[in-house]
Amino acid sequence: MTVVPSALDQDSCDTAIRASFLHFVADPDHFSDACEYFDDGLMILKQGRVQMLVDAAEWIDMLPDGSALYDYSGRLVMPGFIDTHTHYPQSEMIASYGLQLLDWLEQYTFPTEEKFADREHADKIAAFFCDQMLRNGTTTSAVFATVHSESVDAIFEQAQSRNLCLVAGKVMMDRNAPESLRDTAESSYRDCSELIRRWHLNGRGHYAVTPRFAPCSSPAQLEVCGELLNEHPDLYLQSHVAENRAEVDWVAELFPDSRSYLDVYDSFGLLGPRSIYGHCIHLDQADRERMAASGTAIAFCPTSNLFLGSGLFSLDDARAQDIRVGIATDVGAGTSFSLLQTLNEAYKVCQLAGQRLTPLKAFYLATLGAAESLYLDHRIGNFAVGKEADFVVLDLSASDLMQCRMENASTLEERLFALMMLGDDRCVQATHVMGKRQYSRGQ
Ligand code: GUN
Ligand code: ZN
Repeated sequence: MTVVPSALDQDSCDTAIRASFLHFVADPDHFSDACEYFDDGLMILKQGRVQMLVDAAEWIDMLPDGSALYDYSGRLVMPGFIDTHTHYPQSEMIASYGLQLLDWLEQYTFPTEEKFADREHADKIAAFFCDQMLRNGTTTSAVFATVHSESVDAIFEQAQSRNLCLVAGKVMMDRNAPESLRDTAESSYRDCSELIRRWHLNGRGHYAVTPRFAPCSSPAQLEVCGELLNEHPDLYLQSHVAENRAEVDWVAELFPDSRSYLDVYDSFGLLGPRSIYGHCIHLDQADRERMAASGTAIAFCPTSNLFLGSGLFSLDDARAQDIRVGIATDVGAGTSFSLLQTLNEAYKVCQLAGQRLTPLKAFYLATLGAAESLYLDHRIGNFAVGKEADFVVLDLSASDLMQCRMENASTLEERLFALMMLGDDRCVQATHVMGKRQYSRGQ
């Protein structure tokens, strides 16, 4: 039970936010009262952390002198969105026409990633990417850099200068990629060890061991990934699995002794808490049971899966096994930085599969559910007391169309659904990171 103080003083409050508030305290699949909503709420912060969330009418007159008040009355505040899988170097190749995964990688992705040997270029795109995060209300991302260590330095530096929470790592690939983008098992071990020393648990940064996908890593390199995880218990691991049928067939040829694509990773010790795999479309029941039992998470990438024609992710199959799932943009196969637009496409993927995605479940997947997938729900994902106060201020009438639709919406769920179907970065009025406003529309 939360103990609400009877008065506020400078020891308990330095900043207050007045707005409508929505956040999740549980998975709406399992609990009917999974979300908390305040029509006119007041969130009290101290040093960037949530102290309490209460009704504004009762508390607004009790703010101590000298505390900052952000008055967002009429706007909806939610926890900052969390993107569980994306590629910052692909920002500049988003919307490249017409191919499926393996050809798309060769024709567009690898040439784009070659440019990140140039540190200045990496800095420029990393800054652009972090600005896009803020503009879209995203305050935490799990990000692939490129094979170049400097590309990792660039994204951590840019994220740190905005105080964004970041999971990121150097892409590892020692085969089936252009020479200029290849490392070796040994060099990747050295480079990753150095990057872990530099960035892991530095501020809000977390290092992720990042083998691109099984076809690009030799067994020796996948072994290195397992070694790094063993040497550093809090580390993340991110990769891709079972995205595209031709990719799945290729993995079966490359690893004939493995039962399945997921089993390749499993055999090198790469499943477990803080392991996140993008896509997970072409899995079987044994794979899903293994993901659930090991605590491995799925990054659901709907815009990317539609764009590359990869297939329809089954949210119901993941639900049936209680696997952790977070939503993800997967830029630049994904077609939007906006997690609102990503939820729009997630809804349609579920429709095509004959499944349901309610607006409450959708926003859970972009906030607390994503935080649970990253095992960061003790720090972010909702407004529980003590959490880091990352939040997005949403204007639900940002366009004429949205205003027209909202006038005809009578329940919170109806408004949330229209928000995720029609909303994008135009709806983001402001983004705060640990209480501090880092983005304000029009400024
Ligand atoms: N599989 C291996 N690399 C990639 C990538 O960059 N994007 C996507 N969508 N899938 C991949
Ligand atoms: Zn990806």
